[in-house]
Amino acid sequence: MKRILLQGSTGSIGLSSLSVIAEQREHFRIVGLSAGHREDELLEQASRIHPCSLAILRPRNVDVFRSRAAELGAKRVYVGELAFQQQTEDEQYDVLLNAVMGSAGVRPTISALSRGINVALANKETLVAAGEIVMKCARDNGATVLPIDSEHSALQQCMVGERRDDVRKLWLTTSGGPFWGRSKEELARVTPLDALAHPTWAMGPKITIDSATLFNKGLEVIEACRLFDWHVSKVDVVRQRESVIHSMIEFVDGSFKAQLSVPDMRLPILYALTFPDRLESSLVESRPGSFGALHFDEVNSIDHPCLHMAFQAVADGGTTPAVLSAADEIAVQAFLNEEIGFLSIAEVIAETLSSVPRLPATDLDTVMQADAHARRAAREAIVGTSKKVTC
Ligand SMILES: NC(=O)c1ccc[n+]([C@@H]2O[C@H](COP(=O)([O-])OP(=O)(O)OC[C@H]3O[C@@H](n4cnc5c(N)ncnc54)[C@H](OP(=O)(O)O)[C@@H]3O)[C@@H](O)[C@H]2O)c1
Repeated sequence: MKRILLQGSTGSIGLSSLSVIAEQREHFRIVGLSAGHREDELLEQASRIHPCSLAILRPRNVDVFRSRAAELGAKRVYVGELAFQQQTEDEQYDVLLNAVMGSAGVRPTISALSRGINVALANKETLVAAGEIVMKCARDNGATVLPIDSEHSALQQCMVGERRDDVRKLWLTTSGGPFWGRSKEELARVTPLDALAHPTWAMGPKITIDSATLFNKGLEVIEACRLFDWHVSKVDVVRQRESVIHSMIEFVDGSFKAQLSVPDMRLPILYALTFPDRLESSLVESRPGSFGALHFDEVNSIDHPCLHMAFQAVADGGTTPAVLSAADEIAVQAFLNEEIGFLSIAEVIAETLSSVPRLPATDLDTVMQADAHARRAAREAIVGTSKKVTC
C-alpha cells in the first residue's frame, strides 16, 4: 500500500488524482491533502477520505478552519505560505503527488526529494524554474521524479527498453490550442472566455490559457530537457490535432515510437503512481477505431512568440527559465482579469525577460529571488501595457 500526499487536491489534476486513487484503493492510501483557497472543497474531500493532515494557503478564518479540520479527524493542520513545505517535511508518505499550480510547487518538491521520497509531478513550473536543482536533488537522494504531464509520461513510456544513444529526437505533440491558424488581428480580439475553451483537454485556467498561447508547449520543452537530460536541440514540437498521440521518439534509423490514448489525465497519473509497472484499470477505455484519423502539422516556433521565448530561455539557462515562467503567471492572471489583451501576454513576458538579469541558477534561493524579481518586473510591464491601451 503506497501512502500518497496529494498537494493541490482541489484543482483539475487534484480531482483526477482522487478518482484514480479511489479506483485503486487496494494499492494507494491518501495520508494528506492540501489546497490554496478552496477550503470548503478541501474539507469536503477530508470528510470522505479522512487524511492524517491538511494544509491550506489562505483559509477565510484560520481558527474556524483548524477546528473544522480537527472535527473531521485531521491530526495535523498546516496554514499559510509555508504550509505545503511543512507538510512535505513533517508527514510520513511514500509519494508526493504535486498538483499545485505555479512556482508554489517548487519548495515542496525539493523537501520531498531531499528526504529520498519520489515525486509524481504535475507541477511543470517546478522543473522549468528549478529543473537542474530539482533533478540533482533527486539524484543525490536516490529519489525519482515521475512525470504526470501527458507528453512527458508518453516520452517516458516510449523510452522503456530503449537505448539513449538510439534516440535522435524527442517530439512533443500539441493540439495547437483553440486559436491555431488565426491572424494577429483575430488574436487581438480574443477574450478570456474564448481562451478558456480548449478543444480537447479540460484543465485549470492557467494551463488552458498557456495552451492557447503555446506557452504551455514551451514549458514542456524545458521540462523535457530537464527531466530526460537532453539538449534543447534534440527536442521539437509537432501539432497532432486530435490529441491522441501524446508524444513520440524518433530513432537514429528514422523510425518513430509513439504513445496513444484518448486525452485523459487519469492515465499519466496512474502510470506515474505505478511506474515501472501497470495496474488493471477501467477508468479510461477506448477502441483504436474511436481515435479516428490522425493529422499532423509542422510547428514553426518563430510564429508563436511564447513558444519561441521558451526555446531561447532553456538555451540561455541559469535563472532565465524561472523569469520566463514567473512572468507568464503574472501575465496570464492579468489577461484573466481583463487588464491586458491576449497578445500582450507575450509582450509582458518579453519585456520582463529583457529587464531581469540572468544569473547562474546555483541554488534555490537565487532561483526564487529571480522569480520574485520577475513578478515585480512583469507587474510593471502590465502597467505600461495597460497605459498604452488607454492612451
Ligand atoms: N490540468 C491538466 O490537465 C494538467 C496537465 C499537465 C500538467 N498540469 C500542471 O499541473 C499543475 C496543476 O494544474 P491544474 O490544471 O490542476 O490547476 P488548477 O485546476 O488551477 O489547480 C491548482 C491547484 O493548486 C492550488 N494552488 C494554486 N495556487 C496555489 C498557491 N499559491 N499555493 C498553494 N496551492 C495553490 C489550487 O488550490 P485552490 O484552487 O484551492 O486555490 C489547486 O488545488 C500546473 O502546474 C499545470 O501546469 C496540468
